[in-house]
Amino acid sequence: SGKNQAQMEQVVVNGSESHLVVVDNPNLLQKKISAIRLAGPAKLQVIADFDATLTKYWINGCRGQSSHNLLQQEDPEYNVKRQTLYDYYHPLEFDPAIPLDEKAKLMVEWWEKTHALLIEGGLTYNAIQNSVAEATIAFRDGVTELFELLEEKGVPVLIFSAGLADIIEEVLKQKVHRSFKNVRIVSNRMVFDENGRLQSFKGKTIHVLNKNEHALDMAAPLHDHCDDLNGLGDEKSSLKKRTNVLLLGDHIGDLGMSDGLDYETRISVGFLFLHRAGVRLQCCCC
Ligand code: TMP
Repeated sequence: SGKNQAQMEQVVVNGSESHLVVVDNPNLLQKKISAIRLAGPAKLQVIADFDATLTKYWINGCRGQSSHNLLQQEDPEYNVKRQTLYDYYHPLEFDPAIPLDEKAKLMVEWWEKTHALLIEGGLTYNAIQNSVAEATIAFRDGVTELFELLEEKGVPVLIFSAGLADIIEEVLKQKVHRSFKNVRIVSNRMVFDENGRLQSFKGKTIHVLNKNEHALDMAAPLHDHCDDLNGLGDEKSSLKKRTNVLLLGDHIGDLGMSDGLDYETRISVGFLFLHRAGVRLQCCCC
């Protein structure tokens, strides 16, 4: 409607053309911010997607790489095979004409075929380190500072990704040069054999459309594919008590990342890449 359109057009922040934020309902957002402030850091948790959410979509005019497509296997034949899968399935991922249940099946197919090629090609951790070193990938401005602030305030951050956990960890190592005790990664995790070659993946595959199925797992530290949450132990129940959520994503499926929580207040931030009248719309909140 015209009214909705007017709300959507409201542009907040901040002088720079490339940092436009559109707020669907500014009054509601203000109320949510006040509620989260009032409850304090002890009630807050952050749940963030990785690719194109924490990382930049554009880097010096080039498309930033994802945790999947930065990967260069030793045998280049496998890179070609994975790229062929990408060329086929990626358009389907964003095809609005495909019903969600059908699309979810296609995504399972894509992820399983890709994982199988990584195993068949005998991926090594060394290849992961080299791939990250050569990748076009960077965190968005402010991500490190945000993580530091959240660490200082004792606010947990869950990086919830349909990408590859081992690569995300390596990106954090190489690009941030430090670890954060409040940051956990829930993503597809590799198992290497005694020769250092990829043998299998742990647990159930996480793809772009089943992040909600896995949402509960984030509060279940001992679940198969959530090793990173091991050690949180008692924090499982404390995470559940953190009923205010800042959710960051770039995909409609990312909204499901907080489904396992009985949250009171959630601010969802979507990183978008629309071009309107020559302006790149970066972000929208609701
Ligand atoms: P996420 O990190 O936003 O959760 O999603 C992972 C992205 O990875 C998704 O947009 C599709 C992409 N992808 C590839 O680029 N190559 C692949 O082989 C697969 C399976 C996914």
